[in-house]
Formats: sequence, structure tokens, C-alpha cells
Amino acid sequence: MLKRIAVLTSGGDAPGMNAAVRAVVRKGIYHGLKINGIKRGFWGLINRELQPMELGSVADIIHRGGTVLHTARCPEFLQKEGQEKAINFLRDSKIDGVIIIGGGGSFKGAKVLEKAGFATVGVPATIDNDIPFTDYCIGFDTAVNTVTDAINKVRDTATSHERTFVIEVMGRNTGHIALAAGLSGGAESILVPEVPFDLNEVCGRLQRGAQRGKLHSVILVAEGAGSAMHVGEEIEKICGMDVRVILLGHLQRGGTPTAFDRILASRMGGSAVSIMLEGKSALVTCYSGDSGIKEVSYEQVFSQSKEFSWEDYNLASILAI
Ligand code: F6P
Repeated sequence: MLKRIAVLTSGGDAPGMNAAVRAVVRKGIYHGLKINGIKRGFWGLINRELQPMELGSVADIIHRGGTVLHTARCPEFLQKEGQEKAINFLRDSKIDGVIIIGGGGSFKGAKVLEKAGFATVGVPATIDNDIPFTDYCIGFDTAVNTVTDAINKVRDTATSHERTFVIEVMGRNTGHIALAAGLSGGAESILVPEVPFDLNEVCGRLQRGAQRGKLHSVILVAEGAGSAMHVGEEIEKICGMDVRVILLGHLQRGGTPTAFDRILASRMGGSAVSIMLEGKSALVTCYSGDSGIKEVSYEQVFSQSKEFSWEDYNLASILAI
């Protein structure tokens, strides 16, 4: 019978991770489980960093960005030696199951623990929103709001100086942040890795805008699509425009989570505990706008990439004309 579970946050932090940790701890304790927090993700499993969690351990964190458990990228866990150390630690600590809050790489780590006989559940949290079968990952909504706010501010100065701004946003291999923030911020062009682009076309669009009196523009570049610096330099060369480039960087990962992310994280964290209590494992708590939280197997999640919204992309292009 399930008695003792661990919770960890892994990979890049995402606003709302704390709300998910809180949900796991409080719901777990409510159902009589002993909950342990693992510090710094998989690194903490290898280095035996365990912290017993009580109701009060997660007080006053629902509104805080980052993760109180800390997080890390952990290349050591990719090696057999690191995996064995982690597994031995879990066995020594008499942990029956582990809830892993993180992105796709973290779920691959979850699968290793699963194979070693532990119950595991993945809770998708990454601002990149690149996990398939879930409309939203924890942190994405907050990051999109952060970028939208940055676009609003840039617009003020872009309009005043009649300049073109190129803004680079996160998205290691995907353009979900760029697309959502570009749509909500009214960007003139959105460059994403999913869609090949031609800078001559981007310039043609800018020049057509200039001809009808539009003298300021905002272009969003997802980091996975290339360097904003390069895009800015090329636009200056091709169009002879005065361009400024901004890299938003890690500020997109911080900040107080939106209400949406807190609710999503609370639901996903709560569902992760329910899944374990039902004796199930190797599942990810995904979210669909139509049906709420649904359980999706690791195999399904690993089998494909997240769908890119062509509908939104085409709409954003039409609206930016
Ligand atoms: O967590 C996702 C992400 O923010 C990506 O958008 C970005 O490419 C990467 O993490 C940056 O990672 P790090 O913080 O390790 O430099």
C-alpha cells in the first residue's frame, strides 16, 4: 500500500510550480500519506537531499514564482551510475512513489524510476508549453502575460520613435510563447521554428506598412527560430530601417503566477496524488479545455511533438496586415 511519496521540481523553473507542490503536499497529507520534498530535482535524488513536508511547509507559497524545492538540470541522471544512486536512495528512504513536476526531459527521468519499480506521475510545468496532449503546461500563461506586458511597454517607445523592435522570447525548440504573445500583443511578424521564414518577406511586410504610414513595428522571434540580433541586423541591411533588439531571457521564467496557472497547478498537483492513490502510475496530468484534467501515458507523451496552432498563426498574420 502507498504510504510515502516524494515530490520534486525539475528542469527550467516555471511560475506555478509552487502551487503544484502545495497541492501535492496538502492533498497527500489529507489522504494520510507521508510526503517528502526532494531538493534540486534529480540532483537531489542522487545527492540524498530529502526534506519531510508538513502542512506548514507549503504555507504562503501559492503566489510565489520559482520553486521552493529548487530545481536543476541534471546530466548525471542520464548516466547509469547516477540512476543507481537515485534508486538506492529512494529504496533506503522507503519511498513508494515520486511526483515529478517539470517538462519532457523530466518525464524521461520519471520513466527510469518507474522501471525500477516506483510509482511515478508527471505534472507538466514548462513555460515552453511543449508537452503534447495538454493545452497548457504550468507556467506558460504567466510567461505569455509577461511577454505581452513587455510588448506593451516596447510599443510605447516604438511608437514615439517610429522604430522597429525585434524581441527574442524563449522557446528552445518551439514557438508557442512567441505565437501566443504575438497574437495577444499584436506583433507585426512572428518568427517560430515550426514555420520557415524569409527575412525579405518580413521586410516586404514592414515596407508595405511604412508606405501606408505605419512607422513602428514589433517582430517576435522564438529563440529556437534563430537569433533576434541577426534578424535585427538583416532588417537594417535590407530595409535601411533603424532597428532595436531586445532579448527578454530569463525574466520570462519569473514573476507571480497568474490565477490561471495557480488553478491549473492546484488541479494537476491534486490529480497526481489521486492517480497514485488509485494505484496507477506512468501517467502525465494533462489538461484539455473541453474535459479538464486527463491522464496520458508516458508512451503517448513521448510519441509526438506538441501540435502547433496553425489557426492562430494564420490569424496573427492576417491581423498584422
Ligand atoms: O524551461 C524552458 C527554457 O526556459 C527554454 O525556453 C530555454 O531554452 C531554456 O529553458 C533555458 O534553460 P537554462 O535556464 O538552463 O539556460
